[in-house]
Parts: sequence; structure tokens; C-alpha cells
Amino acid sequence: MPTLLVTGANRGIGREIVRQYAADGWRVIAACREPAASGVDEAETVELDVADAESVAVLAESLEGVAIDLLWNNAGIYPDKGLALDALDYEDWLEAMAVNVLAPIRLAAALKENVAASEKKLMAFTSSQMGSIARDSQGAYVYRSSKAALNMAVNCLKHDVRPLGIATCLLHPGWVRTDMGGGAAEIDVDESVAGMKQLLDGMTLETTGAYVDYRGAPLDW
Ligand SMILES: NC(=O)c1ccc[n+]([C@@H]2O[C@H](COP(=O)([O-])OP(=O)(O)OC[C@H]3O[C@@H](n4cnc5c(N)ncnc54)[C@H](OP(=O)(O)O)[C@@H]3O)[C@@H](O)[C@H]2O)c1
Repeated sequence: MPTLLVTGANRGIGREIVRQYAADGWRVIAACREPAASGVDEAETVELDVADAESVAVLAESLEGVAIDLLWNNAGIYPDKGLALDALDYEDWLEAMAVNVLAPIRLAAALKENVAASEKKLMAFTSSQMGSIARDSQGAYVYRSSKAALNMAVNCLKHDVRPLGIATCLLHPGWVRTDMGGGAAEIDVDESVAGMKQLLDGMTLETTGAYVDYRGAPLDW
């Protein structure tokens, strides 16, 4: 039975990731800030504030010796939705960098031996097409810059974990109806996660470093 650890597991896309992998027979470790209030009953829950280094260290220690086939860094925030240049909050920007960029890399570094000890040896990172500089889009300074930085950081990480046999993948989940995506978004979580899950099933060292959407379409950096 393969094992998944996913962050931001209590709502939105992360909650659906838990549901689909648990239904498929995986051991699922659902990481969230408040496990007792998560509503997750089909999987194990663990406490994790991804932006808190101590929280990451405590979790990593508790998982010593546990093989993790798929580590999915999914938790993320978008604090500047709709904000213009003069309305930017620079403290929020720092927090977004902590949650969207530093946290996934810190967790990957802390759990790389767990992933290396597994069969599948895969690290997935929920990015966004909004992190693509090639798209030359406007606004959303905080969110776009954080996802662009995540893309670069994972591209660096790819080289460090490859000798351990670990592949990486950056995913755009689509524009998804969640608290973040909003009600006007294009797809539901089930379609997004089913697409990403199918893609990840086929990810190996041969595909490491991919930056793709939930249907498998490659994205320009
Ligand atoms: N929805 C979209 O259209 C869309 C498009 C592109 C990319 N994405 C990306 O997809 C991922 C999931 O988004 P979503 O739409 O599911 O968002 P969401 O519904 O707002 O859920 C965000 C999740 O991240 C968790 N989180 C935030 N800060 C955290 C922290 N410090 N520690 C632990 N967990 C934390 C939240 O937990 P709490 O409940 O504790 O806050 C929640 O579980 C994000 O990385 C997002 O950037 C989404």
C-alpha cells in the first residue's frame, strides 16, 4: 500500500486529494493546522503549520522511518486577490513567500529520506499557471511572484533529490471552485484532482521537473 502525505488537507483541493487517494487504497497522511476540526475521517491526520519551522521539525521526527511514496505540497495562500499596487500589504507578501515558497522546500528537505525510502519516490508541488512569467500577466504581485519563486526553487530542488531517486513535479490544478478559486472558477475539485492524480501515476525520474496543468499540458516557465 503506497503512502501519500499531503499538506492543506482540510479543505479545497487538498481535501479532495485525501478523498481520492484514500478511496484508491493508499495510506493517506493528511496534514493540516487543526486536525480535530478537519472533518477528515477517511485518513490519518497530523498537525502541521507549514510556515512554522518547529511544526515541520516535530512532524518529520514523528515520521522517522516511514516511507512516503508521494509528498504533495499543496497548502497555499493568495492574500492579494484583487489588490492594486498601492493597496499591497508587504507583511502579507512575506507571509505568502513563507507559505508558498519556503514551506514546501523546507518540508521536502525534512522528508526527503522518507520519500527516498519509498517505492514511488515522488514530490509534487501545487503551483499555478499564475507563476508563469512567460504568460506576461498583470496584477496579483504577491501570489504570482510566490508561485514563480516556487517554480524556481523546485527546479533547484530537482537536482538535489535526483541522486536519491526522487522525481519532482509542479502542477497547475486548473481554475478550481474552492475558497481560493471562488464560485466563478471553471472546474470542481474532483475533476482537478482526478486529472492530477492520473498524471502523477505516470511520473518518474524520466519526467522529473515537469511543470504541467491538471490535463498534462506543459506550461511555459
Ligand atoms: N483554486 C484554484 O483555482 C487554484 C489555482 C491554481 C493553484 N491553486 C493552488 O492550489 C493549492 C490549494 O488551493 P485551494 O484552492 O484548495 O485553496 P483553499 O481552498 O484556500 O485551501 C488552502 C489550504 O491551504 C492550507 N494552508 C494555508 N496556510 C497554511 C499553513 N500555514 N499551514 C498549513 N496549511 C495551510 C489551508 O488550511 P487552513 O484551513 O488551516 O487555512 C487550506 O487547507 C494552493 O497551493 C493554491 O495556490 C489553486
